[in-house]
This record gives sequence, structure tokens and C-alpha cells, in this order.
Amino acid sequence: MDRLVIEGGRKLKGTVDISGAKNACLPILAATILSDCKCIIKNVPSVLKDITTMLKLLKVLGMRASIDGQVVVVEPAKERKFVAPYRLVSTMRASVCVLGPLIGRLRQAEISLPGGCIIGPRPIDLHLKGIRALGVDVNIKKGYVIARAKKLRGANIYLGGHFGSSVLATANTLMAAVLAEGRSVIENAACEPEIQDLANFLIKMGSKVKGHGTPRIEVEGVKRLHGAEHTIIPDRIEAGTYMIASAITDGDIILKGARTEHLTAVIDNLNEAGVSVTNVKGGIRVRRKKALTPVDTTTFPYPGFPTDMQAQMMSLMTVTKGISVITEKIYPERFIHISELNRMGAQIHLEGPSAIVRGVKQLSGAEIMASDLRASAALVLAGLAAGGRTNISRIYHLDRGYERIEWKMTKLGARILREKEI
Ligand code: EPZ
Repeated sequence: MDRLVIEGGRKLKGTVDISGAKNACLPILAATILSDCKCIIKNVPSVLKDITTMLKLLKVLGMRASIDGQVVVVEPAKERKFVAPYRLVSTMRASVCVLGPLIGRLRQAEISLPGGCIIGPRPIDLHLKGIRALGVDVNIKKGYVIARAKKLRGANIYLGGHFGSSVLATANTLMAAVLAEGRSVIENAACEPEIQDLANFLIKMGSKVKGHGTPRIEVEGVKRLHGAEHTIIPDRIEAGTYMIASAITDGDIILKGARTEHLTAVIDNLNEAGVSVTNVKGGIRVRRKKALTPVDTTTFPYPGFPTDMQAQMMSLMTVTKGISVITEKIYPERFIHISELNRMGAQIHLEGPSAIVRGVKQLSGAEIMASDLRASAALVLAGLAAGGRTNISRIYHLDRGYERIEWKMTKLGARILREKEI
């Protein structure tokens, strides 16, 4: 296993290229199952572990996938299969997003149940509700979701859960509905840019979809879909992470390719904290305009503040003079980073779904352990700001979601090395 060694205290400056969005790319790659023709997907963050896992899964399902740099070509190779095995789903929860396409195209799917994960329980009841409404018979047997349908018929589907809309449940329901007979309406649909990107790809394949990007998506089912070429949107969470890298190190970074319209809530919070974010030629420039001031953050579904930026925002608040409150409304247990940040001298305590952060002058480097993907990114940010050396062990989650992070950070002036753990 690898670890990262960071010598903190350097201001990050320069330009960083933002990769294609992992969370847009995963359902879009799954959507290629819906077609019998070749699909070409560009701007794929192909170095990421989650993307390689998805390509492995597509191969298991009878698709041929080839990668050339950031371009992935997918087409059906041989006999189609409909079983997503435990060995792949257990390494990447997002494998569940082949459920909708398999049901849509093959009328059957067997998907290993993903189970919970380190950020808390992650049920799939809304995914099952969505496809059941379209006429699919769903059973759980031996740890697998067994889904069969003679035919799919359009339906009105309400997809709200205890924590609001669901991104991948919306994706699965939408991907099944595009090949259903008749009209479907998905209410309380997720509005995330990743869902908009998926819908745009489905439209290029010949689907009739309206209203994506709003909580009401309308679909008129079609008989078949053709191939399509599509470019993945930039990764707003990677961009947000580099924004905080600039703010936390008092640096000056230009994010190439990022889109401010996908990051409104993050930018709003950063502005309130005293960070300037401006559109400049070639990207978005981020730097402090004054001393940081505390800002309260509450996560919500899009366009609210993303849960995937909560941990990184917390790192910034640990070195911001004053008290801030960070409330997690999507995954109330997603606070695994707190104890590691506290090991670096942060002063954070948890009260229910809220973390109370008392800013300190400086963090100090320490031996810490990474956990989930975004918590790992938060620890890297803390390490960049800390005095001295930080060793972050178990960084494999970072490789699931951040392309060549140490290379990109080094280019910005960070001292960061990847080492094999002894
Ligand atoms: C997506 O997961 C992302 N993953 C997550 O990013 C992200 O944190 C999450 O959306 C929220 O934005 C991918 O896109 C691959 P949800 P998803 O269903 O779709 C509850 C990362 O770090 N819920 O929108 O699985 C759920 O427990 C990852 O890149 C149900 O109750 O998340 C949560 O409280 C981590 N029943 C809320 O809804 C369901 O059937 C939102 O989760 C489904 C979800």
C-alpha cells in the first residue's frame, strides 16, 4: 500500500488542469450498455481506479472497452451478460449504476448488493423503487438484487428519500425509463450536473428526455438507442478541492477547465470566508483576498453545498480564526476525518450531525490515516497547510477519485511524495 509524505507550509501557485468528472463518467459508461453500437466517451479520467473498475465490469457484462488516453470506446463484443458480481461491486459501490441499463436493454439484471461503507449506511431502496415502478419484478436473494421484467412501461415516479433526492437512483431510473414503453415522469429527481451530463449523453443516443437539471425529469420511451460521442464535464469536486488548496496555503491557483456554474455554493462559502474566485482567461483564479473568516456550512443536494466537499471545507476552517459549524445533511456519519484532523492539532468536536470547529493558528504535521475518498483529500489539504511533515497512510481511496494528485500538487509547488508503506 502507498502513503503520501507532505512537507507542509508552501504556498501553491500556478495552473492545474481539472480532469473529467468521475461521478459523471461512471453512469455514462454504464449507459453504453443501452446501445448495440459503438460509443465514444472523451475526457475520461482514465487513470482513476473507479474508472478501471467500471471498464472491468463492462467487460464482464459482454462489452468491449478500449482506452486511448482520455478517450474510451465501448461496444458490445459478444453475448451480453447481466450479472454484476460481488468481487467488483464490493470494490466500487457505483457499480450499482449498471442496474438501470441492464434492465432497460436486457430486461434482466443480477447485481450484488453494495452494502454500507465508511461514510455510513447507503441503502438502495430508491433505486429499487424507481425500477419497480416501471414494471420490474425485484427480489433480493443470496446478497444479490434479482431484477426481471417482461416489459417496461412508463410511470410517474416519486424518488424522494429521507435525505432528499438520490443521484444514482435517479440515474438508474432514468436509464431504465428511456427504453420503457410510453411516458415516465421522475419527481424529486437529483439535479446534479452529473445527472445533466448523463441525460445529455442519453439524448445523443436517441433518448427523449426533458427537464434534466430540475427535480422533474420527463422521458418518452423509445424502442432502441444508437451509438454516440460525448465529452465528460469537468470534475467539480476535484476543482473545489484545488480551490481549497489555494485558500488553505494562501496560494494563487488557476483551475483550467473548471466551471463556476457547477460550484456556486462552494464559491459562495469561499467568498464569505474571504477567498476571491474569479473567471480569468483559461480558467478560474482562486486566492485569498484577506485573512480567512469563519463560515458555517450545511450540505444539501445540488445546487446546495456538496457533501463531497464537506471534509475539505472543514480542513480550511481548522486554520480559520474563530468558530464555524459544519452540518452534514446527506450522510450524517460522514465525519471520519475529524479524529485525524484533531491529531494534527485541529480543535473539532462533533455534536450530532454538526462539527464545531475552533480555528487554530497552524496545524502540525503528524502520522495520519486516510479513510474515504473525500476525507483523504481533506487530509492532504491539511498536510499542505501544516508545519512540518505529514505522513498519510492508506491513500488508496484517493486513487479512486483524484487523478495524479501528487503530480498535480507538485506542479503547483507542493512538496509531496508517494512512497511504499513499509
Ligand atoms: C453519489 O452517490 C456520489 N457517487 C457520491 O460521491 C456523493 O457523495 C453522493 O452522490 C451525494 O452527492 C457517485 O456519483 C458515484 P445518493 P449516491 O443516492 O448516488 C440516501 C464520492 O466521494 N439514499 O445521492 O450513491 C443516501 O443514504 C462519492 O465521489 C437512500 O436513502 O448517493 C444518502 O443519505 C461518495 N436510498 C442520500 O440518499 C437510496 O436508495 C443521497 O445519496 C439511495 C440513497
